[in-house]
Amino acid sequence: MQKYILIIGACGQIGTELTLALRQMHGGAHVIASDIREGSENLMETGPFEILDATDYDALEEVIAYYEINEVYLMAAMLSATAEKFPMRAWNLNMNTLFNVLNLAKDKKIDKVFWPSSIAVFGPNTPENSTPQNTIMEPTTVYGISKQSGERWCNYYHNKYGVDVRSIRYPGLISWKTMPGGGTTDYAVEIYHKALSEQKYTCFLEADTELPMMFMDDAIRATLELMNTEPENIKIRSSYNLAAMSFNPAQIAEIIKKYIKDFEISYEPDFRQAIADTWPNSIDDSQAQNDWGWKPKFDLEKTTEEMLNNLATN
Ligand code: SER
Repeated sequence: MQKYILIIGACGQIGTELTLALRQMHGGAHVIASDIREGSENLMETGPFEILDATDYDALEEVIAYYEINEVYLMAAMLSATAEKFPMRAWNLNMNTLFNVLNLAKDKKIDKVFWPSSIAVFGPNTPENSTPQNTIMEPTTVYGISKQSGERWCNYYHNKYGVDVRSIRYPGLISWKTMPGGGTTDYAVEIYHKALSEQKYTCFLEADTELPMMFMDDAIRATLELMNTEPENIKIRSSYNLAAMSFNPAQIAEIIKKYIKDFEISYEPDFRQAIADTWPNSIDDSQAQNDWGWKPKFDLEKTTEEMLNNLATN
């Protein structure tokens, strides 16, 4: 059977790179990008694109039937900082899109689903170092509540209806191709842009706020590896812990200074500090390592080199 893939939220930070990677693997015509707005030139030119509001079940079903889609990556979501400002909009977007996709899979209109979860599922009562796969969660943010609920529903649809849904709890993601939007970990991308353009950056988190992070190439590879794993090897149908590196703003600033000697960081924590304070410092991803052989390639040094080189030349 021919494989046709739909990416929902294809113009976002993860969606853009995921779409391009999938088009490389399967050919542009097999990977349909969709979003509520148009995206980068590269994305628009390399394969089909549909304007699609995935909270609209009928519109989604129509696109899936038209392109004979069998696999869906649901990357549309409102992230943690924005969700605190618009709780109901975040809940409706994050949950209704998921229900629409899970119900299409339950009704056998698609075969396979990827849905991203996040370190935001953890909360202030979670062990903060080497956070285990199974532990106290109790998220306190709107975004975290939606992701934890989503995880429970993914697990439920798998157990009850046999839906092949797979998920990763992404750490903060760092990329040079597309900006993140409305997250608490966004500082780790902004800092590279400002380091190059102004040689200084005012950080919205405190110097010692350590968070789990990952370079986008690792995140995309992890996603594709999980989706290519034989179903019987996937033991977790809520969402897998995934790790690559952990650092705080002072540490990333130190490494940037090796490349840009005059770089200066200052700190003006805002409401995002309270969100970051409830998230883990580091993540234990041994289950992902054991079940599907996960291994990261990018540490903070390598990420910094990639970010500064690519941002300086692109
Ligand atoms: N990076 C996201 C955020 O900061 C977490 O998934 O909201």
